[in-house]
Amino acid sequence: MYNTLLTNLEDGIFTITINRPEKLNALNKEVMTELNSALDEVADNKDIQSAIITGSGSKAFVAGADISEFKGLSSAEGKAMAKYGQDTFFRIENSSKPIVACVNGFALGGGCELAMSCHFRIASDNAKFSQPEVNLGIIPGYGGTQRLVQLIGKGRALELIMTGNMVDAATAMQYGLVNHVVSQDVLIDTATTLLKIINAKSSSAIAASITAANAAYSHNQNGYEVELEVFGNCFGTPDMNEGVNAFLEKRKPIFR
Ligand code: COA
Repeated sequence: MYNTLLTNLEDGIFTITINRPEKLNALNKEVMTELNSALDEVADNKDIQSAIITGSGSKAFVAGADISEFKGLSSAEGKAMAKYGQDTFFRIENSSKPIVACVNGFALGGGCELAMSCHFRIASDNAKFSQPEVNLGIIPGYGGTQRLVQLIGKGRALELIMTGNMVDAATAMQYGLVNHVVSQDVLIDTATTLLKIINAKSSSAIAASITAANAAYSHNQNGYEVELEVFGNCFGTPDMNEGVNAFLEKRKPIFR
């Protein structure tokens, strides 16, 4: 179905694998277009409850935007490319269904930015992270200057962005860039275990959690106001009735 992605739907979990291993899964235009189509599937397919994004092969998650497409771009063209990347990654960040990055190797430049746009990250122990754009005379443009600051703090973020240095999985874990570090052979299983727990919860409560948490970083919304709004919206929903009744009846809730 896709040229540059592999997809698989099992137990409500849609796995999107970026599949250009010979180019370390670099994000060229085709990958970005197809990623948007895969995100349409995530949004539209009722059988999909949550998603995993990972890279093909054992070496790289994604080694960045495809540098071969940079040559000769004007300032306006560079900006348009970054806009498309930012918009794509906003779709991931704002997805009402959870999307987890399984970082199975190099997550560099746009690869680190892609991972950061996911709701959380799990890394294999060979994973390496960096924003090496300064080496190319540019800066991160797919949201990296913002999300790295949000996730690891401004001092650490600017050190990484200005040096272009790579950090290993253990350091990424210490920085709070990833939630778990596991061996590569159990990377997808670890994400699957967590997503099965999440998928058994109320999908409307999960979507509300994402909306409220994202508002913490919004410049034009008050996060507490957004929390009040989505909290209120949970009341009277079939999921809330089921959750509360199940607790009071001392049984497990069954969310539809
Ligand atoms: N864009 C385009 N092609 C890329 C790429 C990228 N971001 N990252 C890797 N590739 C390609 C290489 O050009 C090479 O292609 P080739 O076999 O046709 O020459 C192939 O992927 C394998 O990469 P290679 O550099 O040979 O592997 P390595 O193990 O020696 O080095 C890296 C791995 C990740 C350290 C190195 O590929 C690298 O520095 N990549 C660029 C990272 C980067 O700057 N990303 C940010 C972009 S904004």
